Amino acid sequence: NIVMKKYSYLILVSDSCSENRAEDRSGTNLCRLIREENLINGSVAVREIVSDDADKIKNKLMDWSDVKKLNLILTTGGTGFSQRDVTPEATKAILEKEAIGITIAMITQSLQVTKLAMLSRLVCGSRGQSLIINLPGSVKGSEECFRFALPGITHAVDLLK
Ligand code: MTE
Repeated sequence: NIVMKKYSYLILVSDSCSENRAEDRSGTNLCRLIREENLINGSVAVREIVSDDADKIKNKLMDWSDVKKLNLILTTGGTGFSQRDVTPEATKAILEKEAIGITIAMITQSLQVTKLAMLSRLVCGSRGQSLIINLPGSVKGSEECFRFALPGITHAVDLLK
């Protein structure tokens, strides 16, 4: 059975929800899905809000992968087309292996829910032992995409250990 010890959330606030920065409802909801609904076999080790700054995002992802050695890093927000949306670029820059299949799974299933899913530039892949997954910024979008990616997440995290 898969034993996943450390999970992590890198919470990114995109322009569209920056007025809700203090509230961070998407991050709270993702934590609830893991802590209360037990969507994955693991716990939330770290949770942080990072501004839409590519260097800050890259440094945080590298720290959580290389130093904290988290098994799974979820980001939420900053995946769209506004000027400040740089999460996918920052993620791509530090990935060792890109996992386009997880992205395709999330986008194709999301398109059944809303045509606007084509606007989310989700990047996924691995760095060291960490699986890194971009999720959209809204509570609804991040939960839906997280659920769509779940079958791949549990298997990939197991293989990366
Ligand atoms: N994907 C799913 N499954 N459900 C959604 O409601 N919202 C979309 C999209 N992906 C959505 C979704 C919308 S409206 C946008 S603008 C993009 O994600 C990008 O969101 P972000 O910039 O907050 O990351």
